[in-house]
Amino acid sequence: LRERPYTVHIGTQLLDKVGEIGCGALSQPAKRAFLIADTGVPASARNLVADSLTEQGLATSRANVTPSEGVKTVATWQRLLTELAQSRHERSDPIIALGGGIVGDLAGFAAAAYRRGVPAIQCPTTLLAMVDASVGGKTGVNLDLAGEGLQKNMVGAFWQPAAVIADISVLSSLPARELRAGFAECLKHALIGQAVGDPGLLEWTRTNLAKSLTLNPQVLVELVGRNVKAKAGIVCQDEREEATDAEGGRALLNLGHTYAHAMETLEGLSLLGSPCSLLHGEAVGLGLIAAAACSEALGLAPAGLASDVKSMVAEAGLPTAVQGLPTNDALLGRMSHDKKARGGSPRLVLPTGDGDARVVADPPTSAVVAGWSSIRA
Ligand code: GLY
Repeated sequence: LRERPYTVHIGTQLLDKVGEIGCGALSQPAKRAFLIADTGVPASARNLVADSLTEQGLATSRANVTPSEGVKTVATWQRLLTELAQSRHERSDPIIALGGGIVGDLAGFAAAAYRRGVPAIQCPTTLLAMVDASVGGKTGVNLDLAGEGLQKNMVGAFWQPAAVIADISVLSSLPARELRAGFAECLKHALIGQAVGDPGLLEWTRTNLAKSLTLNPQVLVELVGRNVKAKAGIVCQDEREEATDAEGGRALLNLGHTYAHAMETLEGLSLLGSPCSLLHGEAVGLGLIAAAACSEALGLAPAGLASDVKSMVAEAGLPTAVQGLPTNDALLGRMSHDKKARGGSPRLVLPTGDGDARVVADPPTSAVVAGWSSIRA
């Protein structure tokens, strides 16, 4: 980004350098740091980061967040703002977000708002946060609409970090389910490889999936690097998602997300007969299948794309169907509340099967329902 450039550091053994890298990325010297840590990150890793900040002479305060969509709220954001103020955090002092996408979004939004903006250093610790959420400056929280449930990311701000530090060593402590969930965003980028300037990404991702799942460090560094580069290319062209539907722009990165957002905060869902709530990445994997089926129904993609996408999602060990979805009417209602909706009608990003996607405003109901039918167990 021309006015707000920043470096995304990707490698191993970086957590004990967060203080040094973070201080090097600040435009003004800092006295304090505020570490917002995901309780899913091992305490040893959290301490490494805190110690690295202290070693740089920063008085470091800490807050922990146990992540869930229900915790990613205005109330938690307010708690963090209050604790920042109580710690005497000042304008040039950085907030360090150490964790998955939920913690990154919350901490980033606290950084965007506190004293009208303090530096954020994003240290993603999940694959999903490394390849997507930590880069590009989207921050925010969900909004609880009484009776209608949580509306995903309805309140937030664009706030680019001062640096992103992705230490792939930390992925070895990530539960396998969370690791697989991260692949959904990689598949999303791969499906629009042409649009993101990496046409070979789909084939490379499929070829290297098994090695990635066994945490081969070289493959993981390349996986994260290629995905970050893909996303950065789009964000640089359309940072605030202002491109027209015909241009596509950053909105293309929402592929699969309108379906995903409509289901991921629902209660009463089951996977393979076991009641459970969906992880964001699991919902995105399902959303990619549904978007492909919708695109086929509209004649925008060749027949067979949804089945191909389903195979890729299955290869990543992600669910390809879900039980307990509500009626189509209820789901359509939720989609029209999505923050990307215009005039009460959903706007869908639909893959075209040739490495690209199209933004379709107000798609016919029958095609949208074909998407839902493709993932109902
Ligand atoms: N995760 C989609 C975006 O950052 O635009």
